[in-house]
Amino acid sequence: MFKIQTLNNISEKGLELLPKDTYEISNDCANPDGILVRSAKMHGMEFPPSLKAVARAGAGVNNIPIDECSEKGIVVFNTPGANANGVKELVLTGLFLSSRKIVEGIQWTKSLKGKGDEVPKLVEKGKGEFAGPEILGKKLGVIGLGAIGVLVANAANALGMDVQGYDPYMSIDAAWGLSRDVHRAISLDSMLAECDYITIHVPLLDETKNMLNKEKFALMKKGVRILNFSRGELVNNTDLIEAIKAGIVASYVTDFPSDELIDVENIITIPHLGASTPESEDNCAVMAVEQLRNYLEHGN
Ligand code: MLT
Repeated sequence: MFKIQTLNNISEKGLELLPKDTYEISNDCANPDGILVRSAKMHGMEFPPSLKAVARAGAGVNNIPIDECSEKGIVVFNTPGANANGVKELVLTGLFLSSRKIVEGIQWTKSLKGKGDEVPKLVEKGKGEFAGPEILGKKLGVIGLGAIGVLVANAANALGMDVQGYDPYMSIDAAWGLSRDVHRAISLDSMLAECDYITIHVPLLDETKNMLNKEKFALMKKGVRILNFSRGELVNNTDLIEAIKAGIVASYVTDFPSDELIDVENIITIPHLGASTPESEDNCAVMAVEQLRNYLEHGN
């Protein structure tokens, strides 16, 4: 019998792949052989000697103490690509939100409640206030061409944007998947200097933390719109707020709210909903469980 501890709700589609005669699943079992986790922070957790593997139903592994796991011989799996479509769809939503003043417009419209027959006239008056540019023909820079970056680049290209991508470590799979119309930028700095929109799709590592900072904002085009659906720490928030005040950044949309960002004008924060779709949750759970089973039952 293998014991599996679940640290978050894991989709039934995945859990049902663990046969009941071989697996015991619970959220508080002692001495588990494997852990299934979504976003729970595992730093500071006690790892029992029984633990052989941790499977994360998601792409980023910054909620798992990887070095400690390696030292203890605990294998860590993640599910790259399994939620890429869910994230891509939210990034596209963010692209439109960054351009058209949809959020402000919705809030303003609510303030018209109670104005009765005057509403159409007021709408006519308010219309001009919430204008914003179209994305067609605009330059989009995609930082990071992994599973999500490639999907975003291809989709934006299909929407008529002029898309460039930058990734010094692109995989063969990603290279095959990237539309021929998406140009590879020679350097990050040259891409940042040219683009009207920038979207980040890199993992959070020591070398990517604060990768968009004062120096990088200084290179950007005035009025650039930035999307961050990867990890909040990739952008230096203090430098970002200064760049917004200086008129360099016209809009920042992120799936990672933090206290200093949530009430800043021209920043839209979303509560990390990128992979919060039933489809992504199912895909991640299935992939995570399959990896865990293979490892526990066959050692690979
Ligand atoms: C991921 O790392 O896969 C995404 O951030 C989605 C998530 O963790 O919910």
